[in-house]
Amino acid sequence: MERIIKVRGLCKSFILGKTSNNVLKNINLDIYEKDFTVIMGSSGSGKSTLLYSIGTMDYPSAGSVELLGKEINNIHEKEATRIRSNDISFIFQSINLLYDLTVKENITYCGYLSNRNKKEVNKRTDELLERLDIKDIENKYPSEISGGQQQRVAIARALINSPKVIFGDEPTGALNSSTGAKVLDILTELNEEGQSIVMVTHDLKAASRASRLVYLKDGRIDGDLSLGRYNEKDSESREKKIFEFIKSRGW
Ligand SMILES: Nc1ncnc2c1ncn2[C@@H]1O[C@H](COP(=O)(O)OP(=O)(O)O)[C@@H](O)[C@H]1O
Ligand SMILES: [Mg+2]
Repeated sequence: MERIIKVRGLCKSFILGKTSNNVLKNINLDIYEKDFTVIMGSSGSGKSTLLYSIGTMDYPSAGSVELLGKEINNIHEKEATRIRSNDISFIFQSINLLYDLTVKENITYCGYLSNRNKKEVNKRTDELLERLDIKDIENKYPSEISGGQQQRVAIARALINSPKVIFGDEPTGALNSSTGAKVLDILTELNEEGQSIVMVTHDLKAASRASRLVYLKDGRIDGDLSLGRYNEKDSESREKKIFEFIKSRGW
């Protein structure tokens, strides 16, 4: 499989007054196309910082990051914005829909920003509304729908530009287990169709969807587990395997 992310010697420090908080310490990591890569680690281990550094949302303090064949550690903000609207997408725990726009408008708006062909965007929006089971609420506003529905809208929005990678930062973190499972089913299905996904989580059920699990501890990679494709039938044994693995890393 093709490599889509190459990280070498990545360090990230936050300077607070006279002290330097070294959050990422010499990370070396390759992430591959079509994988469902999950980054796990306890709270504060640097998962979000790593995700943002490889996803053009933040800059490394040292080291290099290549995303889709392009070095991104020194790119201008304008170029980072271009990459984020054309090549990749993010979904977050806090869903961040635009509250003055309807469900449908939230999706098309994002599409229009990078694709001038409105007809094409509208057609793809309709497909995504069907696919994510939100067609019946297309004219509602975010405040009128549930959290699970909002996250499905966010996924539709993330897909409107057919991103090469979807980055997720605890996308099920604010959902209850059944609406969370529905969101995970969607991500799993997309991945089965070849969508590359890189997701941060500290939830075992979410992690069990991974084809590969990377464990972060104190800003260093402290484990890398290959899991193969998710299969609902062996979800329990996957969860057990992951639990044993992270426990052995000091979870
Ligand atoms: N923008 C920031 N400014 C200062 N410190 C930060 C910033 N972002 C993260 N940190 C610090 O980096 C550490 C790791 O944070 P984070 O990557 O969010 O961890 P995780 O996602 O694994 O919970 C924490 O100590 C956090 O306080
Ligand atoms: Mg985080």
